Amino acid sequence: MPDVTRIAVAGFGLVGKRHAEAVRRLPELELAAIVEPDDAARKLAADLGAPCFGSLDEMFDRVQVDGLILATPTPLHVEQGLEIIARQCPLLIEKPIAVTSAEALQLTSAAEAAGVPLLVGHHRRHNALVRRAKSEIDSGAIGQLRAVQTTCWFYKPDHYFETAPWRTRKGAGPISVNLVHDVDLLRHFCGEVASVQAQKAPSVRGFENEDLAAALLTFRSGAIATISVADSIAAPWSWEMTARENPAYPATNESCYLIGGTRGALSIPDLRLWRHESVPDWWSPISATNLIAEAGDPLSLQALHFARVIRQQEPAIVSGLEGLRSLEVIEAIQLAASTGQLVAMETPKAAEGSAPLDAATRYKRAENV
Ligand SMILES: NC(=O)c1ccc[n+]([C@@H]2O[C@H](COP(=O)([O-])OP(=O)(O)OC[C@H]3O[C@@H](n4cnc5c(N)ncnc54)[C@H](O)[C@@H]3O)[C@@H](O)[C@H]2O)c1
Repeated sequence: MPDVTRIAVAGFGLVGKRHAEAVRRLPELELAAIVEPDDAARKLAADLGAPCFGSLDEMFDRVQVDGLILATPTPLHVEQGLEIIARQCPLLIEKPIAVTSAEALQLTSAAEAAGVPLLVGHHRRHNALVRRAKSEIDSGAIGQLRAVQTTCWFYKPDHYFETAPWRTRKGAGPISVNLVHDVDLLRHFCGEVASVQAQKAPSVRGFENEDLAAALLTFRSGAIATISVADSIAAPWSWEMTARENPAYPATNESCYLIGGTRGALSIPDLRLWRHESVPDWWSPISATNLIAEAGDPLSLQALHFARVIRQQEPAIVSGLEGLRSLEVIEAIQLAASTGQLVAMETPKAAEGSAPLDAATRYKRAENV
């Protein structure tokens, strides 16, 4: 393989543009092609200097690529993902990996059978502040992680939905589109989910999905996380509005994750580590240390990681299976919110060291447990 890794981007929309620009900026990568059926979007894409095609077939027939980032609407992920895997092309698929876990399983099974790397775009795991938070937690800085409080509130303007009507349809509400990021991070920090309870409220704008939900996740470790998500609340507390990952969102100095342990607590993204002076004691002063994380664009770091996975230099950080597991938690949240009942999630067998990376690793859900 030549020194430069040739990456194509399919879907030149909201996030596809950012992927294409990130790939183009990185000297280790080459933006090999853009696939976009919309004429106006394709004209914009042409400005990046890469060849543009109207369909995947056309692109694969005309250019050689080492990997592809799939940033098309989620309902297209399964069909296009299977097509890309059949072409033996390594694939980084945007989150959520698919609309349903059954579709996601089709993708992970096909990738495994074909021996094709499949990654999912949960880019927050590539953010240096997430890495720093994870290493603090793993080093015991807050003692035993007991609880996480997550807020994911923002107001998506009407034109966000008008320009891409798929965003108003079933499967594209904030539980699936936004919360899947937070579920991935919560799994990263706390481990696998044991059970889920949830409530949701219908969209005040009349869309097919909820626009507000709250979930309570219990982890196998015993930790408990509470999450509240809404795309129709005007507020400063969300990853988008605080993490400074994407300049499109004016940043606030707030935090959206509070992580509590037996010896201290951590808020992110402001990375403040709270501890009492000596032993934990609510009658002794508690103060915060500001931790430092290097700056860096997570989409670029993710693209570089994708190239290293393609070159077999490192294993996938967020594999298709990881994307599938997070999607299963999302489905459990949807199920719990629709039924009002607790949903128990079975232990993934891969986590116990048996039958890795096959269909048997899936969670099974049970109602009324
Ligand atoms: N990682 C993130 O932070 C992040 C942010 C936004 C969206 N997403 C995810 O990325 C995906 C795309 O979301 P978006 O908001 O950018 O959507 P979008 O509607 O803005 O863009 C999708 C683009 O795909 C194009 N497209 C449609 N059919 C296609 C086809 N057959 N082949 C190639 N391109 C096609 C559309 O014309 C459009 O330009 C979704 O899965 C979404 O959940 C991830």
